[in-house]
Amino acid sequence: GVNTATSWLQEKAKVTELPEISGNVDIGIGSVDYDLNGITVARLDMAQPDVAFQQGSGVRVDVTGVSVAVTGQWHTSFSIIRDSGSFDAALFDVGVSSVLLLGSDSQGRPSIQIDTCDSQIGDIQISFHGGASFIFQPFVDHFKGQIKGKIVDQICPSLNEGIGSLEAFLAAMNVSYHVDPSLFLDVPLTNAPLVQDSEVEFDLKGVFYSEADPLEPPFPSQEFPMARPADRMLAMAASEFCLNSYAYACLRAGLLQTLITDSMIPDMSPIRLNTSSFGALIPQLPKIFPNMLMELQVYAGEAPTVSLQPSVFALSLTAGIKASAVLPNSTLAPLFTLKLVREHRRRSPAAANSPRVRQPSHY
Ligand SMILES: *[C@@H]1O[C@H](CO)[C@@H](O)[C@H](O)[C@H]1NC(C)=O
Ligand SMILES: *[C@@H]1O[C@H](CO)[C@@H](O)[C@H](O)[C@H]1NC(C)=O
Ligand SMILES: *[C@@H]1O[C@H](CO)[C@@H](O)[C@H](O)[C@H]1NC(C)=O
Repeated sequence: GVNTATSWLQEKAKVTELPEISGNVDIGIGSVDYDLNGITVARLDMAQPDVAFQQGSGVRVDVTGVSVAVTGQWHTSFSIIRDSGSFDAALFDVGVSSVLLLGSDSQGRPSIQIDTCDSQIGDIQISFHGGASFIFQPFVDHFKGQIKGKIVDQICPSLNEGIGSLEAFLAAMNVSYHVDPSLFLDVPLTNAPLVQDSEVEFDLKGVFYSEADPLEPPFPSQEFPMARPADRMLAMAASEFCLNSYAYACLRAGLLQTLITDSMIPDMSPIRLNTSSFGALIPQLPKIFPNMLMELQVYAGEAPTVSLQPSVFALSLTAGIKASAVLPNSTLAPLFTLKLVREHRRRSPAAANSPRVRQPSHY
């Protein structure tokens, strides 16, 4: 990230024209007004910034030892004498120290702003070309400090502008992501990022919603403890709530159901999905609906839920099967409904592990 930011800054600096600098310098026999404009960065060399977390407030960014080469035009007026030409300047040991505050806005989007900013320039060398610049050059030492001060004064406002555009980008950022044509994931920050000595923690509420039916899950979200592996740059954890909201959204989006028909049963199977085959299990069936195809609609009764506790992972599922006969005029006649409840627990084999099948409710 820091690397990318550094090259972005280098590219950005080259296309940005710096504000005009003007002033006047006393040359003993009067005062010369000067201005430098069309100032563009020809080259910018910088090492990677030093980024450190500053507990409680934000991120401290120190950039030191930057060298900048700029070119531009100069104009002078001394009484009625006007002159102009080009110049190039090299700035050495440019540095900026700033503290950026991280926060979150009312919609849970991250925000960033500058808390403090200090800038300095070690040295500046300027060469003037064209016009009567050979006359002008000897006075450079007189106003070098003035130009240096004016450039130093512009560093923090420019940084502020840069952070301002980053802030505008963050404010327009979507905290919603499509994960599927029928589902999206919302990940708003629940509070400002928590900056610690050596790390920063983002608390996000991850909720999945069905696109067609974006209902808030009927269970609460909760804070949860997260183990932090010491040797990792980034650690992420998802809560029970987030996984359960996924299952709930799938249910609302109608993704947790499927239709099984006879054509899906392999040809070599001796058992067909029809009333004659099922007559072996339910003798009345072929009497009421002789030799008719059947359909099974399998659906989740409720959203499956997972429970994540330090030592157990439990999954509970309720599914229903609705069986129907396909009448000769293609209408469906309901036959029976089965309800299955399944609970799966890792690390506790004693728990109800086999499906409990309720008796057919009707046929
Ligand atoms: C943000 O997401 C919503 C919903 O998916 C979409 O309608 C909107 O265009 C997105 N906005 C941006 C800036 O991507
Ligand atoms: C029903 O299944 C039996 C085999 O169990 C098969 O002989 C019969 O042709 C099937 N009937 C229909 C309508 O598919
Ligand atoms: C289809 O047939 C069944 C029984 O033969 C009858 O009860 C039902 O009304 C029929 N449906 C249509 C749409 O014709």
